[in-house]
Amino acid sequence: MRVIDAATPRAFACAAADFIGDRLRDKPQSVLALPTGDTPRDLYSELAARSRMGAVSFDRAKIFNLDEYCGLPAWDEHSYAAFMQRHLVAPLGLSEAQVRLLQGDAADMDAECRAFDAALSAAGGIDLCVLGLGVNGHVAFNEPGSPWDSTTHVVHLSRATRAAQEQQARERWGIPACGVTMGIKTLLESRHILLLIAGSGKESARAALYAGAADRGWPVTSLIAHPRITVIDSCGSAARR
Ligand code: GLP
Repeated sequence: MRVIDAATPRAFACAAADFIGDRLRDKPQSVLALPTGDTPRDLYSELAARSRMGAVSFDRAKIFNLDEYCGLPAWDEHSYAAFMQRHLVAPLGLSEAQVRLLQGDAADMDAECRAFDAALSAAGGIDLCVLGLGVNGHVAFNEPGSPWDSTTHVVHLSRATRAAQEQQARERWGIPACGVTMGIKTLLESRHILLLIAGSGKESARAALYAGAADRGWPVTSLIAHPRITVIDSCGSAARR
């Protein structure tokens, strides 16, 4: 596991943008799985700025998102699809054909999960999976105790996750009880993984990761076994001691 310490928010966003840019230069038609949340916001602004300057090109890339709330249509401002549209799809000028987002309001969620997995396979699998970290160690919406051999599936969201999301939104909006997420098996099949660690309340999850032992109570530790995982950590090396 390679760890890059980023001392400032700017260094964090730039290190992540550099990493993604390098992958796209190696393989312009890369398939990217990308997260929502506070963690990647500056990264997405940085990528949009670099794209406008011609320093990085997403013209041949394909984008999937990691997760979504069940029951929310893409037009709902709280949906992850709306977040992706606002922070990534529109600023980068991605075409509809380049983007496959999970449909949280699909009438048949099992069918949606299978269709999403089929679209991932048809695209050739994930070249780079970028992940944030939940306060309870979740990655995408794979909550503690999730099976590690899962593909895209529906999950019950834990109290900790829902509380963190509500706090982040700074309003009570009735966070759905369930989410839909790429499974840990799918994440681990990615050719490269970039884990972004930023935000408060994540000390225990971070400690579990750096302890270096696989622990089902901390889904992030499933990533330790991946042969090409890079971590960008905003907390500095002191947090790992
Ligand atoms: C949510 C998302 C995750 C995200 C995590 C961290 O639960 N399902 O994909 O990585 O929160 O969010 P943040 O970056 O806002 O701390």
